Amino acid sequence: MQKEKYLQDAKTAAKEAGKYLIGETLKEINVEQDKDIKLYADKNSEKIIIDYLKARHDIPILTEESGELGDIGEGLYWVVDPIDGTYNFFKGLDLCCVSIALWKGSDPVLGVIYEFKNDRLYYGIVGEGAWCNGKSISTSEIAELGKASLATGFPVYRDYSDHALTTFMDSVQCFKKIRMFGTAATSIVYVASGKIDVYIEEDIMLWDVAAGVALVLAAGGAVKLEQGSKKWTRKTMCFANDKLKEKYLNEIFSN
Ligand code: IPD
Ligand code: CA
Repeated sequence: MQKEKYLQDAKTAAKEAGKYLIGETLKEINVEQDKDIKLYADKNSEKIIIDYLKARHDIPILTEESGELGDIGEGLYWVVDPIDGTYNFFKGLDLCCVSIALWKGSDPVLGVIYEFKNDRLYYGIVGEGAWCNGKSISTSEIAELGKASLATGFPVYRDYSDHALTTFMDSVQCFKKIRMFGTAATSIVYVASGKIDVYIEEDIMLWDVAAGVALVLAAGGAVKLEQGSKKWTRKTMCFANDKLKEKYLNEIFSN
């Protein structure tokens, strides 16, 4: 597999979509349902990415707006989120990005996240390294839960019952600081680049986290994914290093 070629194409597709999104002034809502909103910009950005990738690679694509394009199995496939942080984008907040990953079965291969508002392109190949605008990035060395910062979020499909929320809050009280940025992809890229130490979100869609998970691994971190309540949702846990992962899983998660 020519990973470099896949990476280059994912980077270009993300940049093309970002160029469109930066110039998009009409923030019209296409679909509004329960806790979710979808903009016409999500669709347009996705079309730019899909057209670009399809013209160059004959592999399936899993996307936020169109679902499964082709048969996703044990082989290679793209995972595309045309805007992560759609609500932030809608409200004019800067934290939003384009996210493109290449996975093989259940293994992340590479990831690209483009923060188009500040022109930061993050990219990495698992086992080879991770970069932001050409500079190498790595996860933090913080190894104590009490010194670690956590990024999290409350996704559309999570269980919002009192019991589920209380259980979740109990499991995150061990951290020094807790942040909610409104975009899973950006939250995870902060772990990959050492700005945040842990990311945990329950029942999050795979396209929100696929590129970030690849980037965390590429940058020296550790991850754990568990099947969520829907086919493509996962409980996603990303850690700056193995020590933090072990501590969280042994001391908190097992209780
Ligand atoms: C959302 C963001 C948010 C997460 C939600 C996602 P969207 O993605 O990643 O952080 O909590 O579950 O749906 O809707 O902005 O693409
Ligand atoms: Ca998303």
